[in-house]
Amino acid sequence: MYKVFSTRKLPADTEDYLRRHVELDIWDAKTRITPEQLVDRARDARGIITSRTRIDDELLSQLPDLKCVSTSSVGYDHFDTEAMRRHGVIGTHTPGVLDETVADLTFALMLAAARRVVEMDAVVRTGQWRGKPEGWYFGLDVHHRTLGIIGMGRIGEAVARRAKLGFGMDVLYHNRSRKPEVEASLGLTYVSFDDLLQKSDFVVLLTPLTDETRGMMNKEAFGQMKSSAIFVNMSRGMTVDEEALYNALKDGVIRAAGVDVFREEPTPTTNPLLGLDNIVVLPHIGSATRATRDDMAMLAAKNVVAVLDGRVSDARVVF
Ligand code: DGY
Repeated sequence: MYKVFSTRKLPADTEDYLRRHVELDIWDAKTRITPEQLVDRARDARGIITSRTRIDDELLSQLPDLKCVSTSSVGYDHFDTEAMRRHGVIGTHTPGVLDETVADLTFALMLAAARRVVEMDAVVRTGQWRGKPEGWYFGLDVHHRTLGIIGMGRIGEAVARRAKLGFGMDVLYHNRSRKPEVEASLGLTYVSFDDLLQKSDFVVLLTPLTDETRGMMNKEAFGQMKSSAIFVNMSRGMTVDEEALYNALKDGVIRAAGVDVFREEPTPTTNPLLGLDNIVVLPHIGSATRATRDDMAMLAAKNVVAVLDGRVSDARVVF
């Protein structure tokens, strides 16, 4: 039996599945595993299951038996894919099982930022409900406004479906390539990046982190958005210049934002963004429901077993 090392605890049914197919070792300390600890524990492992651990040349050079790294996430920007190719290590991920859950949270952020849900919660809790003039609590409508989605993958489609069917929104999108079948089935309009920024009431970022998307939401991009617009980031923190976002929110260049991801995670409490009222912040919980995280863990387990069994075409391989 091949050894598989998991850098995190796994749901019981996933653990049972793995124990039937491989020799399983699990990092069950409360602290996140360090690269040194990973090398030590995974030295004779053929497979690793992880979610955010950086997989790079230095690590791979010390794990010559390794054949597969399976991430329990759809994003795999923590993989150095070039180094993995060089070392003959296959990377797998978990697309498809988290789309609806991430789309739900995207709408939660859109609604919370537009209707000032977090600010108003604080108003009630701190006894400020009385004595304010009419209208101080007004927010913005979401329904029947224009939504611009940057990155039209499966999650983008799930967000677009909610926007069209549930909220009667017009939906624009920008993507590396056009998706005519999605345009036709959901009634979406493909536009350039600049057009999307200029025309949307809500700009939602759903792109993976790549060399092209790194820092794409910068001062110039925020400057093109409507001053009444709301920005939501569900992709990766590195796609956004946080200083530019801070200035745009502080100076009224855009109205509000909701972000699930930060450049540094966990973001330090000194991050200036946290001092603003017009941003809703979450600790990277896009896929974080019990049911979805269980499905992701099982898919990650099945991926690594498929690769180690030589059934690579049954696994969700990233390259
Ligand atoms: C992913 O799967 O990449 C998500 O960011 C997890 O929430």
